[in-house]
Amino acid sequence: MKHTLLSLVLFSSFSLFASADEESLARGKKLYDTPGLCTTCHQPTGAGLPGAFPPLTNSEWVEGPLSNLVKITKYGLMGEIEVAGTKYNGVMPTPLNLGKPLTDQEIADILTYVRMTFSEKKEAVTLEQVQEILKDSKTTGMFKASDLEKPSE
Ligand code: HEC
Repeated sequence: MKHTLLSLVLFSSFSLFASADEESLARGKKLYDTPGLCTTCHQPTGAGLPGAFPPLTNSEWVEGPLSNLVKITKYGLMGEIEVAGTKYNGVMPTPLNLGKPLTDQEIADILTYVRMTFSEKKEAVTLEQVQEILKDSKTTGMFKASDLEKPSE
């Protein structure tokens, strides 16, 4: 009996955690797929468009430090960058949702979706992580590829 109770408690707290992540994942998918947000350039599959938009699948930047991903998603990105062995030198404008800058929660949700769908990192990204990364960010305007932290090979 004791055992059953314990597993019940464990099971329900586990599903509580799982559902918070699942909700973030669902919100993130909706945002990612919004025309004009990520999907338009990086494509629904995350494969990008050869020669124009880099892939999110098999990208060392998506696998690498979270701080890069948060800053790219918050500010956009410009300047030369190598992704999965190919060089790009394009512009990703600051992402807007219906004309407004993304909130920290929207950034967490989009990155939860991106990491869980297109990378080996199957962890959710939380609002607290995003706030911590952005708290001493002095960036104004777009983020430069040369300011990114190098992902480990
Ligand atoms: C208008 C097209 C466009 C949109 C919309 C866009 N991106 Fe990008 N993205 C780019 C381009 C172009 C680059 C490469 C920029 C450079 O050359 O410096 C890039 C680079 C990136 C990178 C780093 C390189 C890689 O492929 O891993 C990430 C991560 C990324 N974008 C994520 C996102 C996310 C998340 C969204 C949605 C919030 C988004 N992008 C929306 C065009 C876009």
